[in-house]
Amino acid sequence: MRMKSLLRGRVLVLLWVSTAWAEVLVQPEFDAKKFSGLWYVVAMVSDCKVYLDRKDHLLMSTSAVTATGEGNLSVHMEFPWADGCNRMDAEYLKVGSEGHFRAPALGYLDVRVVDTDYSSFAVVYIYKELEGALSTMVQLYSRTQEASPQALTAFQDFYPTVGLAKDMKVVLPKSDACSSAGKEAP
Ligand SMILES: *[C@@H]1O[C@H](CO)[C@@H](O)[C@H](O)[C@H]1NC(C)=O
Repeated sequence: MRMKSLLRGRVLVLLWVSTAWAEVLVQPEFDAKKFSGLWYVVAMVSDCKVYLDRKDHLLMSTSAVTATGEGNLSVHMEFPWADGCNRMDAEYLKVGSEGHFRAPALGYLDVRVVDTDYSSFAVVYIYKELEGALSTMVQLYSRTQEASPQALTAFQDFYPTVGLAKDMKVVLPKSDACSSAGKEAP
């Protein structure tokens, strides 16, 4: 009995997931080399419960992207917090088309660079699993700590299309918790 409903739940989730993914497009002719370099994560929006509980305490993080060949990306992330800095490295593995990835180490089942001009902004869609819960996240990447009006427009036009609401959004405050410590490292 329990097994059956569990199974049915799984099947429904899979069906839902494949339709959700099919609707999200990737930046045409995505160029991993042009996408490389430092990005600031200036805003984000997500329906993840863990995120919603702590979103008002999050700070602006960075992602340093390197194209590693075969369309994969190597990403070095730095997350500042109240009294420190968390650093993490992850591989984004290409799935199918350019600009479409998964990052198993982060629980990211599906990552898509939806829209980017490479030189100032990128809108990144993430479908992920955390502690058994599935959620959708959209991040706004910016080459500078201040997002341009064009970048904010691209972000705000996109996230409602994947079912995310304005009250799930946060514009991340700047912090130098990572940059100061990072520069001292030998
Ligand atoms: C890129 O990712 C694929 C898996 O999607 C893997 O098989 C391949 O070895 C990776 N290539 C590089 C150069 O990291």
